[in-house]
Amino acid sequence: MDIEKVRDLDHQFLFQNYGRQDLCFDHGEKEFLYDLDGRRYIDLVAGIAVNVLGYSHPAIVSTVCEQARRIMHVSNLYLVREQAEAAEALASVCPGPLGVSMFCNSGAEANEAALKLAVKATGRARIVSTRNSFHGRTMIPLSATGQPKYQSGFEPLVSKAFDFIDFNSVEQLKSAITRDTAAFICEPIQGEGGIIAAKEEFFRTARDLCDERGSLFIVDEVQTGIGRTGKWFGFQHLGVVPDIVTLAKALGGGFPIGACLTSRDIAATFKPGAHGTTFGGNPLACAVARTVIETIKAEGLVERSAALGERWSQQLRTLAVGSDVIKEVRGKGLMIGLEMGEDAKRFQERALGEGVLVNVTGGRTVRMVPPLIVSDTSISRTNDVLKDFLDR
Ligand SMILES: Cc1ncc(COP(=O)(O)O)c(C=O)c1O
Repeated sequence: MDIEKVRDLDHQFLFQNYGRQDLCFDHGEKEFLYDLDGRRYIDLVAGIAVNVLGYSHPAIVSTVCEQARRIMHVSNLYLVREQAEAAEALASVCPGPLGVSMFCNSGAEANEAALKLAVKATGRARIVSTRNSFHGRTMIPLSATGQPKYQSGFEPLVSKAFDFIDFNSVEQLKSAITRDTAAFICEPIQGEGGIIAAKEEFFRTARDLCDERGSLFIVDEVQTGIGRTGKWFGFQHLGVVPDIVTLAKALGGGFPIGACLTSRDIAATFKPGAHGTTFGGNPLACAVARTVIETIKAEGLVERSAALGERWSQQLRTLAVGSDVIKEVRGKGLMIGLEMGEDAKRFQERALGEGVLVNVTGGRTVRMVPPLIVSDTSISRTNDVLKDFLDR
């Protein structure tokens, strides 16, 4: 099938709820995608921070094939071996008491579970979130998302239980978190908001206030988790351990899975029947998640994300010197944002023409979140494309 045919079918039979680029891929390998005409692209989008092991990683391919042959789905009415093993693997990389997992199918579902859990565990109804945040598209995470462009048309949302403060405002935290607050939910780096990192003082204050006022601290690691920022979790840069952590995206390396992690005590709030999902924690998704974690460990990809991200950011900062196009290079590890204002979209298009995929987040920031296995050669090639764009 050629791209014209795919475009026709898309327009005829699909909701037009995505602003899709006119590109269609046939297959991928490592950090490369190949379109229907066989043209190769360096993929720095990686399914939006999903494909941490790149495309067609042999470990994932063999896990999917073997597991599909054995068992893909079984109900949570029964013990699920692969679910238990994936939870054990997560506990091995998660610090402190956050060793107990509940699985679901997406980031929105993970946040939905986390927020429900916080309300039930504390017996309180109010949630504090940050402006410019993104927590997902189902009604509760959408209600916690501090960006009117995503909420518009869906008001009054779930309830008026959500209070918003400025990201990184310690002062506003102090008045927002009260004895009525069930939870404070926050990303360590706002991804959809434009790659903006939380300050250590902000996270430490949130931790202290939650402890003092009996609220729970939820860190949304859907985009930052599983090695993306050069540590397993983004909060590890910020000197705190939250009460609840949510994951999705990279956890399945391209296979849909989400997770909500917490301590044994908090998890005990959910008695049988309190929450659940048919597909959450199915053997196939969980077998893949375990393979992703083990492969990242075996290939040293968290360390690689830290070292390569640092080196690349330095190179980008050097390129940015003397250019008024790049206002700032932001991010951690292999989660990098180039603040470019109006030029961000133009660079995205130019890079596409040169066979490099990036995307724009927050309207003004070029986002680069490649597979953690991305080669030095692909990074050099990207730098050349950027240099050429800046020179012109
Ligand atoms: C920080 C964060 N939370 C939640 C979500 C929602 O995840 P999903 O699209 O899997 O529902 C996203 C997706 O971009 C995200 O970046």
